[in-house]
Amino acid sequence: MSTSSDPAVRALPERDRVALRRWLFASIVAVFLAVAVGGITRLTESGLSITEWKPVSGVLPPMTEAAWAEAFAEFKKIPQAQTTHKDITMSGFKLIFWWEWFHRIVARSVGLVFAIPYLWFMVQGRIPRQLRLRLTLLPLLTLGQGVLGWYMVQSGLVERSSVSAYRLTAHLGLALGILAVAVWTYSELRPARSRADRVVNRDDSPDASRDSAFAETDRAPAAWRWALRGMTALLATTLLSGGFVAGLRAGKIFNEFPLMGGQIVPPGYSQLGAWYVNAFENPAAAQFHHRVLAIVATLFALVLVWRVLRAPVSALVQQAVLRLGAVVSVQLLLGVTTLLLAVPVALGALHQFTGVLALTAALVATQRAGGVVWGEVQPRASLGDQGVSLGARVSRNAIPAIAKQITPHTANTTRPTV
Ligand code: HEM
Repeated sequence: MSTSSDPAVRALPERDRVALRRWLFASIVAVFLAVAVGGITRLTESGLSITEWKPVSGVLPPMTEAAWAEAFAEFKKIPQAQTTHKDITMSGFKLIFWWEWFHRIVARSVGLVFAIPYLWFMVQGRIPRQLRLRLTLLPLLTLGQGVLGWYMVQSGLVERSSVSAYRLTAHLGLALGILAVAVWTYSELRPARSRADRVVNRDDSPDASRDSAFAETDRAPAAWRWALRGMTALLATTLLSGGFVAGLRAGKIFNEFPLMGGQIVPPGYSQLGAWYVNAFENPAAAQFHHRVLAIVATLFALVLVWRVLRAPVSALVQQAVLRLGAVVSVQLLLGVTTLLLAVPVALGALHQFTGVLALTAALVATQRAGGVVWGEVQPRASLGDQGVSLGARVSRNAIPAIAKQITPHTANTTRPTV
């Protein structure tokens, strides 16, 4: 029997579940590393130091003094070399070159971390049909991220002295998209039947002695699932608005909080005409929107924290919401400090990193609230008047343990479906 709090449980051999989860964990770590290195690359104004895109031979840096001189000469032709880096020397150039080179090496490694295990799992037939589309998307999107990265860099090589804020935000957005798919699937592949999956704070909560072998994954009530989806969408929008703040160098103006130029809405807010042009091209408006979104997101997260302690959700959801509230609060403080100090490299990079961490926390909370898990042993125990009935897939090895749990009477009348 299926009720609204039933989990959506899917079967997957334990060995494959663990292997896929390890792969996704490695991929998530790789994306975080790429985000951190990408952030530092941008904040040190290093991103335009390599003026060509050679996906394979570009792995090798210049090897001779002549090759360095040639790379330096190419760099000097771009507008940024006459503005931001107008006094740069060869040793300064080498420094920014190495950052961008490292960024590109990390990006290539992320591609390999996604692609090689993916191909191996596919050849072995270990990716279940329902996961095939999204796991195929991962290496493809990572490849697309490389192309988008180069498209972004190109926008800073002629006419402009920095890259387009639109392209920078698209690059950030795609990184978040890749991360979201990996984090969501990783969370779905968590081990099922953990006691922490049980709903707490529910009047009809089954007693612990009865549920130890049958701990189900309970779905949170619809209001909670929607609230967490809304939280995730709000955070994602806040992060993307941060991309525009970074792209428009809007962290270098109005280095004050909470007011901007002594006003709530900054002077010059609508100087570019239509609101949507201001939102994406006017640094004052971009910073204002980012602040408002961030404050609303933080308040929302804190309300969720306050409510979750008494909500009929599983302990796993509770933990995830508490973590989310903590990370978002830290992120707000980091954002204000970053702004007040006019974006020092270390703080700017940390602020970006923690922003991505906050989105990860929101995704995990939302996924857990949905109650979908994968696993081999998934008895769905419905403890009604008729005793225990097991309607889901159960591994053969689990049958003796299950039989012990149910009364002799029900043991005779109920057959697990294998
Ligand atoms: C929930 C809270 C927040 C989130 C999730 C968030 C997220 C982000 C992200 C993702 C970026 C883009 C970084 C990049 O692409 O390099 C960013 C940039 C920025 N944010 Fe926030 N932010 C939050 C709160 C705040 C607050 C409250 C302030 C200040 C009042 C702030 C100020 C800034 C500034 C100045 C930048 C530009 C930094 C740079 O140039 O690298 N943020 N934010």
